Amino acid sequence: MSQLKEAGFEYYQLKNEIQYEGIEEDLKKLTNAFDHLPTDEYAPHLNRYRRYARAIIMPGTHEIRWLPETKIDGKNYYEYFQGSYNPEYMGEYRRFPALTKESMQNKLLEEIIRFDFRETFWMREDALMPFHAGIHFVKLLVENEGDVAVSSPNNLHQDGEPFTFAHLIRRNNIKGAMNAISTPKHRGKMPEEMPDSEITTSFYLEEPLESYSVYDPLVTHYVGEVEKGNQAGIGERSAILIDFQPTVIADPDVVRSMQGETSKMIYV
Ligand SMILES: [Fe+2]
Repeated sequence: MSQLKEAGFEYYQLKNEIQYEGIEEDLKKLTNAFDHLPTDEYAPHLNRYRRYARAIIMPGTHEIRWLPETKIDGKNYYEYFQGSYNPEYMGEYRRFPALTKESMQNKLLEEIIRFDFRETFWMREDALMPFHAGIHFVKLLVENEGDVAVSSPNNLHQDGEPFTFAHLIRRNNIKGAMNAISTPKHRGKMPEEMPDSEITTSFYLEEPLESYSVYDPLVTHYVGEVEKGNQAGIGERSAILIDFQPTVIADPDVVRSMQGETSKMIYV
């Protein structure tokens, strides 16, 4: 059984997992896409920048298709709903600027999505339809001494999607951004308020394409605040977050793959 299936989280060095001619060039293009991310309109004071897109993935063939964007005033958006899981945006629809076409056509991004999907496992009943992948490009930027950039939500939390993968793209001149994993009973807490024995693991993503995954029902996860490092110039932490869910019309509470019975769950 994979560590993701057994423990609910796993660390990956994707540079060892994905290799093809031209990967460095594709990584450079993905990295450059983070230079042009718009401000997160829902949290402009938090030094957060982002784009988002939705794709579907066919079970069996793992073919990826991007869903159509919503066009408003000539700009492309994807709408976003997180149900009751993010206490900062309870039951709210949000709308994020879409990934650029160039990013959506980037082969490395497609390879990453497919690698991630192959790590996921599902109840057979949830695997009859295409799967939904939500792809977030998120940048935390700190320009001045004393600036703090935070992820949302800023505590040990669950996302409400069965699987989430985080892939570091660039970490430059920052302090912080500690990742922590704990158990669901600690949802809503800050790791520093808890005894070390209650933190399953903590780590920092440092290199491009260092990554980790969570199977949401088994764990809570956290990424800490980002502050500027000691060098001159701005500090940046950029990452691609990918979540997967089945396309069944159901409340998360009744989705079978959310019951945590990993021994009954299959790769599809
Ligand atoms: Fe999260």
